[in-house]
Parts: sequence; C-alpha cells; structure tokens
Amino acid sequence: MERTLSIIKPDGVSRGLIGDVIKRFETNDIKIIALKMVHLTQADAEKFYAVHKQRPFFTSLTEFMTSGPIVPMILEGENVIEKNRTLMGATNFKEAAEGTIRRDFATDIEKNIVHGSDATETAAEEISFFFNQFEMNER
Ligand code: CMP
Repeated sequence: MERTLSIIKPDGVSRGLIGDVIKRFETNDIKIIALKMVHLTQADAEKFYAVHKQRPFFTSLTEFMTSGPIVPMILEGENVIEKNRTLMGATNFKEAAEGTIRRDFATDIEKNIVHGSDATETAAEEISFFFNQFEMNER
C-alpha cells in the first residue's frame, strides 16, 4: 500500500467542492486515512512550495495558497501517487483529460482545485509537513 498527500486548495474549499473531490477518491478505491482543514501562513506556504521558489509564479502561488483554508488529506491505496495524479489531471486544466478533477472544476492554471504529491519521496515529505504521528490513524 502506498500513501500520498492531497490538498484541496482555497478555490476548491470556497467553491464548495470538498465533497466532490472526496467522492472521486472514495469511488476509485482510494482510502482517506487522515484529513483536516488548515489556513497556512505566508511562511508555511513558502516552505511547502520551496521547490518552486525561483519560478515566476511563486509569489502569486503562495498568496493564493494562503488566501483561505485548505484541506490536506493522506490518501492510501495501491499505486495511489500515480492514481491520484490521473484523477487530478494536468496542472493546466486546459490540458487535463476529460473527467478529471481539474478539467471539471479548475478555472486557472494556478487555481486548479487540488495538489497531489508527485513521487514517493515528496509524498513522505509533504505528509509529514501537515500531519504528525498521532494523526495518521495507525493505532
Ligand atoms: P501544484 O500541483 O500545487 O504545483 C505547483 C502549483 O503552482 C500548481 O499546482 C499551480 O497551482 C501553480 N502554478 C501557477 N502557474 C503555474 C505554471 N505556469 N506552471 C505550473 N504550475 C503553476
């Protein structure tokens, strides 16, 4: 079993899409093992997206990610990193396949509803960014 981090971004939360996103996971054999709602500070968002620090969209992205609450979740399932990325669709919703979360709901390359870890190592790092051992529901 593999784990990954999913985040419903501020646009997904403010537009009332939490249930729609979760439904896609639950109907695709993905188990949600931890979930919460948090509001990041600017410093938190800069740390989370540090890998994009040099990109031209960094300031806008971190401001967007702190503009309202977000819902981070730990997803578990077979091949879930890849599976979640397939369900999300391409970063740019205009290039996302039909039936994906971003194609159906995103309005902008930045306001693209969800984030998902891209590899095993980043999944582990991103999960521990948001969740501690007591929130993993492993007992
Ligand atoms: P995410 O998967 O969270 O990873 C980085 C985020 O930066 C991305 O989704 C978008 O929300 C945002 N972003 C904004 N502009 C771009 C861009 N030109 N290319 C990639 N990501 C972008």
